[in-house]
Amino acid sequence: MNVNEQPLKSPSESETITTLVVFPNDTNPMGRLHGGRLIQWMDDASAVCAQTHAEQIAVTVALDQVLFRSPANTGDIITIKARVTRAFNSSMEIFVQAWARRVLSKEKHLINEAYFTFVAIDGNGAPVAVPGVAPETAEEKTLYEDALLRKLSRSAAARKP
Ligand SMILES: CC(C)(COP(=O)(O)OP(=O)(O)OC[C@H]1O[C@@H](n2cnc3c(N)ncnc32)[C@H](O)[C@@H]1OP(=O)(O)O)[C@@H](O)C(=O)NCCC(=O)NCCS
Repeated sequence: MNVNEQPLKSPSESETITTLVVFPNDTNPMGRLHGGRLIQWMDDASAVCAQTHAEQIAVTVALDQVLFRSPANTGDIITIKARVTRAFNSSMEIFVQAWARRVLSKEKHLINEAYFTFVAIDGNGAPVAVPGVAPETAEEKTLYEDALLRKLSRSAAARKP
């Protein structure tokens, strides 16, 4: 049990993987995937992940360290993986990665990584407590440890006028 008196849950219990195809209406005139469209897909996957972990409705409250590492193009297959790194009281940090795969060459490359923060809310929109996270793998443990520093940094940024 954690401070919220709810059993801890592992990241694998809520890991969310989404697969999409880039169509022409997802791209700019050069045939490259719009950054905003990709962020929407990543937000959707992380919302499923957060709500599965929390077993509550959860809303996006912050998005940071967004890195567009390389482009995706019309026809590419996009895979998005969302994992909860750590939960605090009502908030959860979700680490999201996106890859593009070219159908003919089968080449697959990382196109984006970001950290989303979600807050679980009740029927009145007020924050509610969520289960804590029990990391299992070495990578999950590193993400868990570093999540506290990222939360403190976010809180400091939110306080700036
Ligand atoms: C999310 C929301 C309910 C939080 O309400 P609030 O009055 O700020 O609540 P609190 O100050 O008690 O903070 C609640 C949690 O949110 C976190 N939080 C608040 N602002 C944050 C920010 N800018 N960045 C990261 N976390 C934040 C707090 O750290 C706290 O986490 P904890 O409970 O795990 O310690 C409210 O800000 C809201 O409704 N925002 C709009 C969300 C939205 O519409 N999203 C888009 C659609 S999904």
